[in-house]
Amino acid sequence: MEQTNKLKQYDLGYHIRSPKGLLNDPNGLVYYKGVYHVFYQWNQADTTHQSKSWGHITTKDFIHWKTYKPALEPVDWYDKDGCYSGSAVVFEGEIYLFYTGNVRSENGERKSYQCLAVSEDGIHFEKKGPILEHPIKGYTAHVRDPKVWQGKEGNWWMILGAQKENLTGDALIYQSANLVDWTLVGSMLEESISLGFMWECPDLLKFADRDIFVFSPQGLEAEGEKYNNIYQSGYFTGEFLENGTFVKDNQPFEELDRGFEFYAPQTFVDDAGRTILYGWVGVMEPEVEAAVPTRQQGWIHALTIPREIRYENGKLIQYPIAELANLRKENSTVIKSVGNEAVKMTSLQQDILIEWSKAATDFVLTVRNEVEINYQANSKKLTLIRTNWKTRGKEERSVFLKRDLMELRIMVESSLIELFLNRGEEVFTLRYFVDEDDFLLRFNYLKETAEKTLTLYSLDSFV
Ligand code: FRU
Repeated sequence: MEQTNKLKQYDLGYHIRSPKGLLNDPNGLVYYKGVYHVFYQWNQADTTHQSKSWGHITTKDFIHWKTYKPALEPVDWYDKDGCYSGSAVVFEGEIYLFYTGNVRSENGERKSYQCLAVSEDGIHFEKKGPILEHPIKGYTAHVRDPKVWQGKEGNWWMILGAQKENLTGDALIYQSANLVDWTLVGSMLEESISLGFMWECPDLLKFADRDIFVFSPQGLEAEGEKYNNIYQSGYFTGEFLENGTFVKDNQPFEELDRGFEFYAPQTFVDDAGRTILYGWVGVMEPEVEAAVPTRQQGWIHALTIPREIRYENGKLIQYPIAELANLRKENSTVIKSVGNEAVKMTSLQQDILIEWSKAATDFVLTVRNEVEINYQANSKKLTLIRTNWKTRGKEERSVFLKRDLMELRIMVESSLIELFLNRGEEVFTLRYFVDEDDFLLRFNYLKETAEKTLTLYSLDSFV
């Protein structure tokens, strides 16, 4: 019993997780007839990366959720080893899901089929089978994760994450007039870019003055504070031309999230024109995943909260979508102070806002005696430190801010934190597992500091 209670401590109230089994990538995000549909990679049977189906939940307000039967199950010859990641579009009143059918032959050889399923009601999905079969000359069988969108001229585009025969990552682009018959255009990149051995989960975001190519390259070497997770997710800014070419700006690959667990994000645009992103709070690293304590309860991993994405001054800004403020309980705690203090959170579901009256000076903020947020004003370096639950050693991730730190928003759950800096200029996502019942936030300033206002809201759970 005690053990059960302990494990319950790690449960999540306002992040999407699967009821059991393993959840990974967000899939098929789409706004359809007034309802937001979220699908996710789901192994229903256990907490390993086997046998993926598409879990399916919907909401009208990001607070009240309905759960449906999985939209796709890996039961056909073309997807028998997994209905892998993909995306959705609405066409003539129906939802079209595009996904990768993963097939392994007896000798372990991989085959990938890009497949289509269609729904007239947003609940039942009829599989139409493969629309693209590989191999493709010059590429390996690692070709997956279709993202589809409608071009300016009414035609349809699809990008796929791919691996070239020389074992470098790439993105392939296809076009179609009817969403069923697709023609390969070629690599989406104007010039090939050497960035890892495989690109997963490509996405293309469109803003008024810039297009953004988001993808998850595998195999980047760590470079200082960059690329310290096993796999990364990030983007290039540039321009997508209606001949299928992405002309990238002369800017480096920028990681989307500076934390420990963030991968395979996907975006969609809703009726209000907002670009909304969900990411997977996890990274495929079997040994680390094996040690996640919630496995003993039969589930593992979560999605991030939905983030509204904007493009400003050459970079993407990510902030919790406005609807999440409706989870705030009525009473908030507001503290104005200049010095050190310890504040007790009233629950483990918190939305915490810290605003400084002028640039923050050096501090260490500790959440629950475990997650340390360390800021050095001179270098504008913010470092996050936690205990690795497998090795028990401390580990850290950092970022150098472009501006002084003026604002922090910390979305706390019992075992997950999303930290937004300067209204979303930088984000850190991480899991953490603390045994003790420590609800404290401790501020420790190393120097005199500006006045800050700390507002703590307790959050309700999803209904
Ligand atoms: C990314 C990924 C995708 C694949 C899916 C399988 O996390 O490896 O490339 O479609 O997960 O679950």
